[in-house]
Amino acid sequence: MTDLMPILGYDALEFYVGNARQAAHYYRTAFGFDVVGYAGPEHGVRDRTSYVLEQEGIRFVMTAGLGPESEIVQHQALHGDGVKDVAFAVPDAEEAFRVAVERGAEPFREPYIDEDEDGKLVRSAIKAYGETIHTFVDRSNYTGVYAPGYRPTNHQQPAVPAGLKYVDHVVCNVNLGEMDKWAAYYANIMGFTQLHHFDDEAISTEYTALMSKVLWDGTGRIKLPINEPAQGKKKSQIEEYLDFYRAPGVQHMALATDNIIETVRAMRANGVRFLTTPETYYSDLKTRLDWSTIDADLTQLAELGILVDQDDEGYLLQIFTKSVQDRPTVFYEVIERHGSQGFGVGNFQALFEAIERDQAERGNL
Ligand code: FE2
Repeated sequence: MTDLMPILGYDALEFYVGNARQAAHYYRTAFGFDVVGYAGPEHGVRDRTSYVLEQEGIRFVMTAGLGPESEIVQHQALHGDGVKDVAFAVPDAEEAFRVAVERGAEPFREPYIDEDEDGKLVRSAIKAYGETIHTFVDRSNYTGVYAPGYRPTNHQQPAVPAGLKYVDHVVCNVNLGEMDKWAAYYANIMGFTQLHHFDDEAISTEYTALMSKVLWDGTGRIKLPINEPAQGKKKSQIEEYLDFYRAPGVQHMALATDNIIETVRAMRANGVRFLTTPETYYSDLKTRLDWSTIDADLTQLAELGILVDQDDEGYLLQIFTKSVQDRPTVFYEVIERHGSQGFGVGNFQALFEAIERDQAERGNL
């Protein structure tokens, strides 16, 4: 099945935001991205501005509409700033579209070709959860910055490089009762398989719970955990997301580093706000994990609030930011893997408790 739907990796994550210029500035100064491309009225694009940001293997596009009639502005009014497009790089965007639609995907945009002096870019798109789409991108015959219509910018170097390397996983929140439907969507349409399953006992606190399935492409290039809310005594973080995003959508993106201490230190210095971790978490860690195989300084981890998890394959270090926009919707994870292919299930309890403290402060618990 995967042979019929080969995916090379994430091509880009495109966000629809209220103010693309300021969003680009935030990701440059706070997350260490380089602003490499721009499209807008100066170059003949009348209805929007888009900034292309890159850091190693990660590409973000910040797009905003320029008037109330714009579907981008309407999207932003409904959902707030969020991820519109989780785009996949493919060897053949026409074939990917044909196979996906044949397997039941709802078309968003038929295959289309954009050309300029830098070559030919072939794209197509299908609908996913909520208003999110997946664009299939074949850039094998395109050498320009991102896409025709975009111009290179004077590479403004990031304020402090953060050392982020690639997108590790992209997590979505879907409505109650819809996790299996979306797991089946990625299995049937993309040929993905399930990586792990956590039951709702495994991920719950006194108040809230979630259920999660992880679909992946079998190579590790694409990993898509799918969350749905589970019954708890009070409102779960997934429900809070759905209430504020007003639809299923991307909840968090995990960005990988090979030095999480330096990355988090830089991001903190740049003004990124992370969830706090209770001190008891670190005293428990000393006995909860087998430290003979973990090469990390517990004092430094505790100082920065970084979480540790371990399984049969190895360990991982991770930390979660607070929401990066006004609504309590999209956030980030920074992750450093050492063998473990997991997602930090052992940390979910600690994470949930930390998120709930924030939720309680907003009066949404
Ligand atoms: Fe994650």
